[in-house]
Amino acid sequence: MSDPKKLYIKTYGCQMNVYDSERMVEALGGQGYVETKSPDEADMILLNTCHIREKAAEKVYSELGRFKGLKAEKPDLKIGVAGCVAQAEGAEIIKRQPMVDLVVGPQSYHRLPQMEEVVQTGAKALDTDFPEEDKFEHLKARPKAKRGPTAFLTVQEGCDKFCAFCVVPYTRGAEVSRPSDRILAEAQDLVERGVREITLLGQNVNAYHGHDGGLAGLIWALAEIDGLDRIRFTTSHPNDMDDALIEAHGTCEKLMPYLHLPVQSGSDAILKAMNRKHTRDDYFRLMDKIKGARPDLLLSGDFIVGFPGETDADFEDTLDLVRQVGYGQAYSFKYSARPGTPAAERATVEAHVADARLQELQALLTQQQRATQDSMVGRQVKILFEKTGRDPGQLIGKSEYLHAVYANADPANLGQIKSARIVRSMTNSLEAVLD
Ligand code: SAH
Ligand code: SF4
Ligand code: F3S
Repeated sequence: MSDPKKLYIKTYGCQMNVYDSERMVEALGGQGYVETKSPDEADMILLNTCHIREKAAEKVYSELGRFKGLKAEKPDLKIGVAGCVAQAEGAEIIKRQPMVDLVVGPQSYHRLPQMEEVVQTGAKALDTDFPEEDKFEHLKARPKAKRGPTAFLTVQEGCDKFCAFCVVPYTRGAEVSRPSDRILAEAQDLVERGVREITLLGQNVNAYHGHDGGLAGLIWALAEIDGLDRIRFTTSHPNDMDDALIEAHGTCEKLMPYLHLPVQSGSDAILKAMNRKHTRDDYFRLMDKIKGARPDLLLSGDFIVGFPGETDADFEDTLDLVRQVGYGQAYSFKYSARPGTPAAERATVEAHVADARLQELQALLTQQQRATQDSMVGRQVKILFEKTGRDPGQLIGKSEYLHAVYANADPANLGQIKSARIVRSMTNSLEAVLD
């Protein structure tokens, strides 16, 4: 048999891209490819891209520029662009970087094997359809290889919300949920391969409707799987946090006490201009309910500053919301005008104003994040150990609250969940001593 061909895949953007990259590696496995960590030895390079902000998209072109030399040395090397930039720019990518052989949108990965055959003939392959068929149903069964203790599992894709700033409804298409029996089978298979924690993924994961009971129903069904100990989900929209899901946070032991629930802004005027379809008071009421169900829940959020029309008073409302809610984790971004979105047509906030707001918000969020982390010292947690640390004898894992935790422990504990006490809070992690 000839040597396997090598595939180098680089992943940008959200966790759904991480999951998709795994599935693309598997799909190309059938074409004789194995994954390599080095672009220099690759026969095919795939960039799985993100279009969410301008900088993310520009990175793709600069990365492609870097591979030009490689392609000159090795003319048989094939270069492909997948993901949301592929969907948004399509044939433009090949026009701008003619050395690109293949462009494939996020809903067409099951067609990669055929596309690979096309590029081997020297032709270009482009597919940015939103096909009728479900890509997951057409991807091969996942190989049975053993894997690490945590995994992502995409349950829902696309978005019908059309927030005025966001490209996702255009790059990922309309909301689609995978049937729950398929998800349960995939979860069972992951558990048999060593997985103990699954994070359910969707651009609007709590709008999931592939189970009669919605996302909560799916979570309860997953909780029946022996050997699956932890369930998480991301990303949620406030308007889809139904009572059953809130209640599951209080009663389902396997559902971890962590919730990423972006609000974007604390100003009613900006929320309206963003087309978020809820007010700040709606969000406060929701927070009360969720904290009522699970008082120790660690809350995470996303924020955008400098959205068109944002005044100082609007920004103050965002700071005020953050102070009132309190976030254990948060991501904040400067508004980036995305071509084709409604907000891109509006007058922007001056860059230096947006920069200053971002700094101020980030300082507040960092302070909250640090305080939440520090408050863990002295508490008992359960750690799922995922890998060895840099120091000998040290393992790294995650607590229920998704904090990274270091502890001295025997490597036999890898993939195990252990009780421990937090003894120290560091910049971005905690240290614990096993019971
Ligand atoms: N589906 C998720 C978000 C996906 S994008 C949700 O609804 O929450 C992740 C985050 O990127 C968003 O929550 C938002 O804070 C940020 N984002 C999206 N578009 C952006 C833009 N045009 N400029 C700046 N930040 C943006
Ligand atoms: Fe984008 Fe809004 Fe949909 Fe989230 S809910 S993916 S921010 S359009
Ligand atoms: Fe980026 Fe697409 Fe995810 S734009 S954030 S990779 S859905």
